[in-house]
Amino acid sequence: MMDLVIPDKVHDESRQGEALVLEPVAGKNNGRKLYIESYGCAMNFSDSEIVASILAEQGFETTADHNLADVIFINTCSIRENAEQRVRNRLKEFTVAKVKNPGLVVGVLGCMAERLKSKFLEEEKLVDVVVGPDAYRDLPNLIDQVDSGQKAVNVLLSREETYADISPVRLNSNGINAFVSIMRGCDNMCSFCVVPFTRGRERSRDPQSIVAECVDLFNKGYREVTLLGQNVDSYKWKPSSESEVVSSESKDTSNATTPETTNFANLLEMVALINPELRVRFSTSHPKDITDDVLYTINEYENICNYIHLPVQSGNSRILEMMNRTYDRDWYINRIDAIRRIITDCAISTDVITGFCTETDEEHNDTVTMMDYVKYDFAYMFKYSERPGTLAAKRYADDIPEEVKQSRLAQIVAKQQEYSFYRMQARIGKVEKVLIEGYSKKSDKDYCGRSDQNAMVIFPVGENYKPGQYVNVLIERSTSATLIGKVVN
Ligand code: SAH
Ligand code: SF4
Ligand code: F3S
Repeated sequence: MMDLVIPDKVHDESRQGEALVLEPVAGKNNGRKLYIESYGCAMNFSDSEIVASILAEQGFETTADHNLADVIFINTCSIRENAEQRVRNRLKEFTVAKVKNPGLVVGVLGCMAERLKSKFLEEEKLVDVVVGPDAYRDLPNLIDQVDSGQKAVNVLLSREETYADISPVRLNSNGINAFVSIMRGCDNMCSFCVVPFTRGRERSRDPQSIVAECVDLFNKGYREVTLLGQNVDSYKWKPSSESEVVSSESKDTSNATTPETTNFANLLEMVALINPELRVRFSTSHPKDITDDVLYTINEYENICNYIHLPVQSGNSRILEMMNRTYDRDWYINRIDAIRRIITDCAISTDVITGFCTETDEEHNDTVTMMDYVKYDFAYMFKYSERPGTLAAKRYADDIPEEVKQSRLAQIVAKQQEYSFYRMQARIGKVEKVLIEGYSKKSDKDYCGRSDQNAMVIFPVGENYKPGQYVNVLIERSTSATLIGKVVN
């Protein structure tokens, strides 16, 4: 889940940090056990659930213990160098397992698989199978190939694949919040970013399949969905000619309100209308594409959470241009002002990169003053890490010394800590509507859950409420990452 960042994790390989180990799921058993470990962003975590679903169909059961596994998959991230390093170190640990059990299948999935392709098999002898993010339907064949003694690779990217018809196996789930993928790939070409190369072209998923998945989750007791895409604001679905025929034939009787083209504001509304008890979150918004229409929709529906993750990357217009973000400082500020104007009480978080190519101290200071302007509730902050093949790697020297990147990062981390604390303190004395997620990490005498604005709230366990329910919590005190209070009527 989108976790609150602990300062020493801010330059971890992903926004999420922790590796996800999957709990066993019941399936039609083929006697073989699958273990998946996921790194990187929420999309990758969501993809692991699709992989588990595809293999559950083949009779694989998932296990949380890799020592019991017949197949070990690592779903990898390439976003920064240290993300890849972490995967390589983890693979070394599996060498021991393979020596003990030569029949063990070791596979690399996800973004690193896509970036390195068959080179991976040369670099890491232990690996049997390399599968890119659009090729998971081929996994049963690829495993067969490995079983017959070959190495297997499928890294084909697709312009259509959205896995729309696959109902993900919810792994390691609390039964309350779930990720729902609404699109794949990215058509932006931010110069620092490897994602367009590892995830391919942007494509949106059929809104009816998204709504159906959310309805199913709601019926199973889930109370919060997070709609996922690299740039949710460019979500766009146009019915194909085939489905247009179907809808025009059935015009009189079917849902006549479905617009021809569904944009993100339309989709948000469709999901919000499923049930007022189902909270809707989404990630990631892009400053160039977020429309007032989306903001009005967020404000209109109580169950669409008042929280926007709007990565700024830099507060300086020259750096933003070199990053190919296609907005400048003024544009970004205009979007922040629009959020504040249109949505009552909206939390805003961001991503920042320090030490991008040629960044001067003054330009870095523009990022600092942007933080002063917005006073973000929360931020994920990273040192620039050059990624092979990206536009920045081709065009610009990675010329900011490591110590400078580090000290700029430390400066903004300290600044963010202050603003997170400031935002949290401002909640004291207020009543927050909290969806209870379970016991707090520290004590089973306390529950934890999130406020509408995505703050983690801790309060004592009580007899009249349980996980999956909403409670009103009066906030009494806070740290920079948590609100603490008690349930009130
Ligand atoms: N689609 C999202 C970002 C996904 S990657 C968006 O457009 O905002 C998550 C974050 O990782 C980015 O926002 C960026 O801050 C960071 N990031 C991406 N590439 C990076 C690199 N080469 N070095 C350091 N941080 C990077
Ligand atoms: Fe990367 Fe930019 Fe696409 Fe985000 S919008 S995934 S940063 S290319
Ligand atoms: Fe990493 Fe790929 Fe996500 S590079 S951040 S896992 S899209």
